[in-house]
Amino acid sequence: MVSPTGSYSLLALLSALLSLSTTAIAAITPKGQTVELNGNTYYIPPTVVATLKADSHVLDKLNGLQPLTVIRSDASKLTSSILESLVSSYESADDVFNAGFLNNIYIEYNGTSKNPSENVSTHSSWGPKILGYASAYDTKKSKTVTSSSTLPAGPYFLDPSSGAVFEAYLLYSDVMGSFTQGLLSVGNDEYDVLPASLQGYASLTIGVPSRLYYTKTADKPLAGVRLGVKDIYDIKGVKTGCGNRAYYETYPAANSTGPAIQSLVDAGAIIVGKMKTSQFANGETATADWVDYHSPFNARGDGYQDPSSSSSGPGSGIGSYHWLDLAIGSDTGGSIRNPSQVNGCFGNRPSWNLVSLDKVMPMSPLLDTAGFLARDVQLWRAAAQVLYKDAGLKSYTKYPKSIKTIKFPNNASTPAEGLLIDFVDKLSSFLGGANVSAFDYDALWESTKPSTVAANTTLNSMLSLTYPILISKQQYPLIAAPLYSDYAAVNKGRMPFIDPVPLSRWDWGLGYPESQLETEVAHKNIFANWWNTTAQVFDEETCSDSLIIYIGTEATPVYRNVYRDMPGVPTGFSTPRIANFAGVPDMVVPIGQALYNSTITLQREYLPVAVDFIAPHGCDLMVFNLINELVEAGIVKQPDTGSTLYGDEVTYY
Ligand SMILES: *[C@@H]1O[C@H](CO)[C@@H](O)[C@H](O)[C@H]1NC(C)=O
Ligand SMILES: *[C@@H]1O[C@H](CO)[C@@H](O)[C@H](O)[C@H]1NC(C)=O
Ligand SMILES: *[C@@H]1O[C@H](CO)[C@@H](O)[C@H](O)[C@H]1NC(C)=O
Ligand SMILES: *[C@@H]1O[C@H](CO)[C@@H](O)[C@H](O)[C@H]1NC(C)=O
Ligand SMILES: *[C@@H]1O[C@H](CO)[C@@H](O)[C@H](O)[C@H]1NC(C)=O
Ligand SMILES: *[C@@H]1O[C@H](CO)[C@@H](O)[C@H](O)[C@H]1NC(C)=O
Ligand SMILES: *[C@@H]1O[C@H](CO)[C@@H](O)[C@H](O)[C@H]1NC(C)=O
Ligand SMILES: *[C@@H]1O[C@H](CO)[C@@H](O)[C@H](O)[C@H]1NC(C)=O
Repeated sequence: MVSPTGSYSLLALLSALLSLSTTAIAAITPKGQTVELNGNTYYIPPTVVATLKADSHVLDKLNGLQPLTVIRSDASKLTSSILESLVSSYESADDVFNAGFLNNIYIEYNGTSKNPSENVSTHSSWGPKILGYASAYDTKKSKTVTSSSTLPAGPYFLDPSSGAVFEAYLLYSDVMGSFTQGLLSVGNDEYDVLPASLQGYASLTIGVPSRLYYTKTADKPLAGVRLGVKDIYDIKGVKTGCGNRAYYETYPAANSTGPAIQSLVDAGAIIVGKMKTSQFANGETATADWVDYHSPFNARGDGYQDPSSSSSGPGSGIGSYHWLDLAIGSDTGGSIRNPSQVNGCFGNRPSWNLVSLDKVMPMSPLLDTAGFLARDVQLWRAAAQVLYKDAGLKSYTKYPKSIKTIKFPNNASTPAEGLLIDFVDKLSSFLGGANVSAFDYDALWESTKPSTVAANTTLNSMLSLTYPILISKQQYPLIAAPLYSDYAAVNKGRMPFIDPVPLSRWDWGLGYPESQLETEVAHKNIFANWWNTTAQVFDEETCSDSLIIYIGTEATPVYRNVYRDMPGVPTGFSTPRIANFAGVPDMVVPIGQALYNSTITLQREYLPVAVDFIAPHGCDLMVFNLINELVEAGIVKQPDTGSTLYGDEVTYY
């Protein structure tokens, strides 16, 4: 009913409003509902995705919310056996779909025939379940249903009283504590916290939509990819926590999504939640460093290994959950690489400055990068091509013919060393007999260091303070100082709680003058220039004169139930710092797993063994392509989720 506004005077309207405000104005926003179907729990968002109308009152005969399967067929003559094979393809492609949705079936036609027909016997097991066919079908059984819009195939819920169709989200419990919040797109590029909860021990609930709703296209190469986002990236409508409770309380929900995350969403990725970060992306070790909340669990081995940091949630989630495809983390000093190594997945610290980090919490803008953690190398590369597109990463048809190994073993005194040696052999043959040589960058520096530095300058002496000065002196004014004053302003002058690691680093940095930052930036630049002209050089044909590889992890346990020393300042120079200071890509490849004797399970368990690849700035795609080819060649196996990387049973003895 529409009331003519002319019949009200402005005064009457105002007084009506005033009287309302003294009583109550109720604004109810539907947030969806949760239902159980065949033992699975589903969340049903409130958005109506289509409305169905049926010819012969079939909907009137249904009571209450109904499961619904939309089947799309392009067969000019649909038969029971075609139906059967479509349904079994849905079952194998999608975890959200289950047989319960087959109680009501609506069949759409997406073929090219002018008169598609069906011959699904009403006496077959399908017959009674078929609610109707789209009007394209020539049905003589008055089973025509029309839909207000074309629906992708898949599981849905139907409200028969209105014909409204809703999507189905399967709910999973975040049993490994990888997430900080489950998220749901609510339209207008905005997100909301998923208003659903499953039984789970201090666990959040994450909802995933049916995989069948999405089809990858050239425009949407990430269609339907379930993405977890480290909680330092702003997402419109949602608060960013950066691993700190005071920060989360102090600031409002983000009013926009930054360009990095938006590019993934525009390419079709589905954000399913925000994932844990160690505080302000500083390196924290489980357990005592994590005061504001618990460190996520690492699924590998005995399940009580440190997940590393700072992209701990992404590492934990990718190592644990088959229903999570991809996670985006950030790497300033190793924050993608270390969690990728120990959680047994692929991970990339990209070339520096490939993508805007607007609306992302900074640690050190001169070192910060955005990259992925993944199990599937094709998806990993596709996501990188979306995220870094403007950087125009070039592909090459030839690979470098020289492999330089940093601190690799010569002989196998442990199983992990055996895997490393074997991998180098296979890599060398794959590259057509590439020359393998041990690379001692300290020795190279001694013979080639620039004349501008003092003769007794070692890499360690020049770069010892560079990392901690850059992160503390850049993060303090960008994050700490504003937080201290913003928090104090609304908390009677109180100081916010800060975990020991970031607090000790910031305080240590305050002990140095501002000029130290300039000094360390200069040291970083001296190193970068030396590295990219002397140690590893761009090549027109292969992008790089060499592949430099080093050991990421050798299945060394780091238990989370150990009392450690107070955190120190991360001074010194070591191999992982090369990519940080030179701004070059460093990519983690899990190459296998090795046994250790667990003090937790009192059994032998597997932990990952990983190798890191370093290449010159802008050679990211060359390395992505190489890793994809190593997987195709069977030299690298893509990891599974769970306690072992390859789904194998541990042999106990
Ligand atoms: C019809 O839709 C299905 C997806 O449900 C797809 O596999 C098939 O290729 C489509 N057929 C045509 C002709 O577009
Ligand atoms: C429909 O299928 C049945 C077997 O399932 C077959 O006997 C019958 O001839 C078919 N009808 C038409 C019109 O093709
Ligand atoms: C969005 O939030 C930022 C702070 O993060 C603020 O500066 C800006 O004014 C806000 N924009 C709008 C349109 O509210
Ligand atoms: C194995 O390699 C180590 C160094 O990597 C070396 O010290 C040791 O002598 C080698 N052992 C044998 C048996 O070659
Ligand atoms: C292999 O590489 C090393 C180090 O770059 C070099 O000294 C050696 O001559 C190379 N060998 C061959 C056969 O190319
Ligand atoms: C290098 O030599 C200078 C004096 O020539 C000295 O002051 C400095 O401490 C030395 N640096 C290192 C790293 O040994
Ligand atoms: C080498 O590094 C310096 C300092 O980061 C940079 O300015 C320069 O462009 C780099 N050169 C190449 C070839 O990557
Ligand atoms: C585990 O312990 C057994 C003896 O209990 C030992 O023989 C074996 O070498 C150990 N394995 C590892 C990987 O340390």
